[in-house]
Amino acid sequence: MDGNGRWARKRSLPRHAGHRAGVKSVREIVENSARHGVQYLTLFAFSSENWQRPEEEVGMLMSLFLEALRREVKELHKNNVRLRFIGERDRLDSKLNEKISDAEAVTAENTGLRLQVAVAYGGRWDIVEAARNVAGKVASGAIDADAIDEAAFAAELQLGSAPDPDLLIRTGGEQRISNFLLWNLAYAELWFTDVLWPDFGHAEFEAALAYYSRRQRRYGHTGEQLEAVKC
Ligand code: FPP
Repeated sequence: MDGNGRWARKRSLPRHAGHRAGVKSVREIVENSARHGVQYLTLFAFSSENWQRPEEEVGMLMSLFLEALRREVKELHKNNVRLRFIGERDRLDSKLNEKISDAEAVTAENTGLRLQVAVAYGGRWDIVEAARNVAGKVASGAIDADAIDEAAFAAELQLGSAPDPDLLIRTGGEQRISNFLLWNLAYAELWFTDVLWPDFGHAEFEAALAYYSRRQRRYGHTGEQLEAVKC
């Protein structure tokens, strides 16, 4: 969700106004995803690297997450959305952690859209944590090193049993992954747009989905092989 700061600067507003406007886009895209029957939506709200931003901006973002949780969880629950947070939760303050745990518990049985929010998340951190967990299991004798395969390793990652993302959308004009779900994005289709996150709404989301629907996903096969399977 990139471009909040530039959106604010263009309007001579402080950066936090851009982040606030970004919450509106979050709401709109969550609604659109649910309407489209998207099963999993993962939002990159705050990266491991974002801790390096000015203290004031970090504090403001944390307050915004707390405020958004306080305001939105009831409505999300009413709409059957299941919430989950991924990332280095130990680094978040206790009030936010408490609210996150409450939101996850309240929505745990919901069967609609799975909304996954990455806060204090880094793809490399995720992989290192998973490696540490696997190493611990081998050391304790719980599993044999030979039993480690891609599926066993992926199960230790933050997304766990959730499917890999089919489509990555990045707003704000940059064309890079920036340490997002490094393992899980291996086969994702990539959609980059210059539109700044607070301007990203229904029409832009539809355009991204239309792009996705035109992609042929080959996973290493040839186009002819896939055509043959269809017949
Ligand atoms: C990147 O834009 C955006 C962020 C670091 C924060 C994203 C947070 C929100 C959209 C707030 C709401 C989120 C939830 C889940 C309620 P930037 O600040 O790097 O923009 P710039 O590149 O234009 O400076």
